[in-house]
Amino acid sequence: MLKGRHLFEPSDLSLKEVDEIFSLAEEIMENQNKFLDICKGKLLATLFYEPSTRTRFSFEAAMFRLGGQVIGFSDPNASSTAKGESIEDTIRTVGCYADIVVMRHPEKDIPKHASKYSDVPVINAGDGSNQHPTQTLTDLLTIKSFKKKLSNHVIGLCGDLKFGRTVHSLVKALSRYEDIKFVFISPPELKIPDYIKEELKEDSYYETEQLEDVMDDLDILYMTRVQKERFSDEEEYLRLKNQYILTTDKLKTAKKDMIIMHPLPRVNEIAREVDNNERAVYFKQAKLGMFVRMALIAKLLGVK
Ligand code: CP
Repeated sequence: MLKGRHLFEPSDLSLKEVDEIFSLAEEIMENQNKFLDICKGKLLATLFYEPSTRTRFSFEAAMFRLGGQVIGFSDPNASSTAKGESIEDTIRTVGCYADIVVMRHPEKDIPKHASKYSDVPVINAGDGSNQHPTQTLTDLLTIKSFKKKLSNHVIGLCGDLKFGRTVHSLVKALSRYEDIKFVFISPPELKIPDYIKEELKEDSYYETEQLEDVMDDLDILYMTRVQKERFSDEEEYLRLKNQYILTTDKLKTAKKDMIIMHPLPRVNEIAREVDNNERAVYFKQAKLGMFVRMALIAKLLGVK
C-alpha cells in the first residue's frame, strides 16, 4: 500500500511496488483520457530550493494531467525562506494547503528531515549529490520500455559518478535485479563513492577511465553531466568538464541495440549529432518521467 507514504530513495519501494507503479504508468500511456480527473480536488506543492526543468515541470504536468492543481516555488527567495523561515515551519505550513509535497534541496537528507514535520507525503526530488528516486523510476521505466526487461544488462555509467545523484540512485535500484553488470567510467577525481560500491557484489562491477575501450560491451550507456554546482574548486571543474564527449564516431563499436540514456540537463557530454542516432533515447526518457510521476502521484494519494 503506497497511499500516504514518503519517498526518499529507491529502496523505499519494494520491487513489487515498482512494478505496480510501472503497470499504472503504462496504463496511463495507453489511455490518458481514462485518468483526466482522478486527482480532481487534490493539490501538489513543489518546493524547489535548487534549479530544475524536468523534475519540476514533469511533476507539475503530471498533476495537471490527472486533473489536480499545483502550488509552489522554484526559487526559495520568493518564499518566506528569504525572511529566515525554517524548513520545518515551511513544510508544516505547506502541508496545511497541499495533499502531497515534492521537494528538491541542495543538502543531503533535507526532504527526509522535512517529512518528519509533514502530515502529507513528501517526495525527494533530489537532495544534494545523494539520491533522486523519481529520476530512477524514470530510468528504470526507460530501460524496461526499450530493453523489455530490467535484469541481465551491462550498463556503463559515464562522467561524474562522484556527485551525480541520479547515478547513486540508479545503481542502488538496479542492483536489486538479476545479472546486472556495472561499468563505472570516470576520471579518478569523479569516481563512484566507496559507500555505493560497498553495497555491490565484487564481481558485479569494474571501473575504467576509457569509454571507447568498453563501448562494445554495453547494453546501456548512461551519460552524465559534470555537476558544476558541487565543485568547490572551479579550476578542477574546468579541467574535468569535457573529459567525455560522446560523438557518433565513438559509437562505431557500440551494439546496434545499445541505448544511450542521460538524465539531462546535458552540457557538452553528448554531441548534438548523437541526438539523431537510433540508440539515443534521452528525450523519450524525459517524457516517460512524466508518466511515471503521474502513476506515483496517483499511488501516493491513493486514488489508484
Ligand atoms: N534530470 C533532472 O533532475 O533534471 P532537472 O534538474 O532539470 O530536474
